[in-house]
Amino acid sequence: MNIRIFDTMQQASAAGAEIIAQAIAAKPNTVLGLATGSTPVAMYKELIRMNKAGEVDFAKVRSYNLDEYIGLDGTHDQSYRYFMDDNLFNHVNIDKANTHVPCGTGADHAADAKHYDEMIDAAGGIDVQVLGIGNNGHIGFNEPLTPFTSMTHIVKLTDSTREANKRFFASIDDVPTHAVTMGIHTVMQARSIILMAFGEGKAEIIKKTVEGRPEIAVPASLLQLHEDVEIYLDEAAASKLS
Ligand code: F6R
Repeated sequence: MNIRIFDTMQQASAAGAEIIAQAIAAKPNTVLGLATGSTPVAMYKELIRMNKAGEVDFAKVRSYNLDEYIGLDGTHDQSYRYFMDDNLFNHVNIDKANTHVPCGTGADHAADAKHYDEMIDAAGGIDVQVLGIGNNGHIGFNEPLTPFTSMTHIVKLTDSTREANKRFFASIDDVPTHAVTMGIHTVMQARSIILMAFGEGKAEIIKKTVEGRPEIAVPASLLQLHEDVEIYLDEAAASKLS
């Protein structure tokens, strides 16, 4: 793991955007693995700025998002498809047909999940995977104790994750109980990974992720077993590192 600590979230996000822009410059049809949540928003803003300035061209880029809530379709403003359109895809020259978010509304979730992995394989695998991290160490919606071998699958969300995400919904009862997520193995198959974490609230889990031993109780700690991982932190998220 290569850990970089930046003074501010903006600086870390600009550096993250630079990694993506360089990947696309080297391979115009780069396959990106993308995350939602508050963490990547500033990086997406920077990518939008760079795209408008002619510094990055998404024309041939393909993308696969990590996860989606079960039961929310793309018109729901808390669906991850809506989030991606709103925070990135609508503002850059990406072909929407090349953007993929797992389907949370199909008739056969298991078949849809299997198909998602097949699509990623057919695209040649993920070149750069963007990750945030949950307070309990989840990556995607792979909660603690998710098997290392997991591919895209359906998960029951933990109370702590539903609690953390309720700020986006009218009440906790409106937070979906299940989600579809790329598995740990799906993520580990990416050629390179960038995990970002900002704010003091992430300091404890970042310490476990990078200084603890890799264990399925802390899914993000398994990234220690991947050979190309960048961890970009602001000062606050790095504040408990020894
Ligand atoms: C989102 C995702 C989640 C988030 C994590 C952190 O697609 O996969 O694992 O990255 O819950 O969320 P934020 O960034 O809101 O702190």
